[in-house]
Amino acid sequence: MLKIGVLVSGGGSNLQAILDGIEKGIIPNTKVVAVISNKEDAYALERAKQYDIPHMYLNPKDYRTKKDYDQALADYFHAQSVDLIVLAGFTRVLSETFVNQFSNRIMNIHPSLIPSFCGKGYYGLKVHEAALSYGVKVTGATVHFVDLGTDTGPIILQKAVPVLEGDTPEILQRRVMEEAEWQIYPKAIALYAQGRIQIQGRTVKIIEHL
Ligand code: GAR
Repeated sequence: MLKIGVLVSGGGSNLQAILDGIEKGIIPNTKVVAVISNKEDAYALERAKQYDIPHMYLNPKDYRTKKDYDQALADYFHAQSVDLIVLAGFTRVLSETFVNQFSNRIMNIHPSLIPSFCGKGYYGLKVHEAALSYGVKVTGATVHFVDLGTDTGPIILQKAVPVLEGDTPEILQRRVMEEAEWQIYPKAIALYAQGRIQIQGRTVKIIEHL
């Protein structure tokens, strides 16, 4: 059984897609064992509650340093014997010590086709605002492993989504979620749970048939 710990900051629609994926059997042999938010009012916590999943708000202000905060997250996940950490709309960049403790065991979803519109300062709606002001005709979403950079880790899955005339950042965000994020995140976790992901340097190889 793959045990997942999820980090959230907002609405948690990706968390929901993962929970639906587990329920429908799209993600086999997997359980979400912890959901932690850095924001008290994150609706994602409510979703966890509805599924009886242990969840908590951890306030960064209660910790002296970012490193201390991240260690508290790591300690909790270690205590729950978490195998894979899933960032689902988590707005903080994780410190080096955290990433090193879970090397190649942290996944993130980013709402663009990396390496476009990613890195420091690009999160949530800002990503879609940037895509629209650049004038790209295609955008999408990327699931990747987290390394020491921001949005630089090995790419697992990507899906393209068209930009349409009249799009606002909100409309585009919704289309990217529906057509890409909510599909590729459960799929990437399923591949991981099935042992079908191999990392070769910075390249991810998906094993088609076991
Ligand atoms: C999603 O669009 C996710 O891709 C994005 O935040 C949103 C969270 O929505 N993540 C980032 O921008 C990370 N850099 P959700 O809380 O409904 O899943």
